[in-house]
Amino acid sequence: MRLLEERIRRDGIVVDGDVLKVDSFINHQMDVGLFQEMARQWHEDFADAPVNKILTIEASGIGIAAIVAAEFGVPAVFAKKSQSINLTGEVLTAKVTSFTHRRTYDVIVSRRFLGPADHVLIVDDFLANGCAIDGLVEICRQAGATVEGVGIAVEKGFQPGGARLRGEGLRVDSLAIVEAMDPATGTIAFREG
Ligand code: G4P
Ligand code: NA
Ligand code: NA
Repeated sequence: MRLLEERIRRDGIVVDGDVLKVDSFINHQMDVGLFQEMARQWHEDFADAPVNKILTIEASGIGIAAIVAAEFGVPAVFAKKSQSINLTGEVLTAKVTSFTHRRTYDVIVSRRFLGPADHVLIVDDFLANGCAIDGLVEICRQAGATVEGVGIAVEKGFQPGGARLRGEGLRVDSLAIVEAMDPATGTIAFREG
């Protein structure tokens, strides 16, 4: 998506060879107009899919998921990262190991909000190793829901998550795929699509 690539080039900050900071428009301050354009793109790309629910993981997926849900006219559900006292009754859970943060945590969704009738579009801000997406796919599997696809804002194409998930047969629709970043010059190369 040209608009997102241009924005990353303009306002993204290459922190080192593999971390990209986008906190001025995606995951701290949010450019909601940009989110709406992203949502329109995914809505167009998944026009053939019977999506009736958007699923993401807290925290930074939530803003994107809310705007995507408005575009599709369906609810958004976010997986919580640890057991919450607000969640009573049966829950769906999966373990996620974050390589970036070197920790493992549980993700949790109430069974009340995900079930066999659901056709899910998973969305998130970043795709690196794909462990967060694995957790959300596992939660959908436990729910008996159908995963229609995965919408990612920024995929880091030099990390293995995207290729692995596509190899597993998932439809992964990344709006910008960064192939390489040079912290010395701030140069960012995108995969041509
Ligand atoms: P993975 O899910 O693809 O395996 O990613 P990984 O564990 O390596 O990364 C964990 C967290 O780091 C995720 O946020 C992910 O969005 C974020 N992340 C990964 N690469 C980058 C990057 O280059 N730039 C930025 N800004 N974030 C990156 P999280 O732990 O879920 O935290 P939250 O911010 O959503 O609360
Ligand atoms: Na995230
Ligand atoms: Na994040």
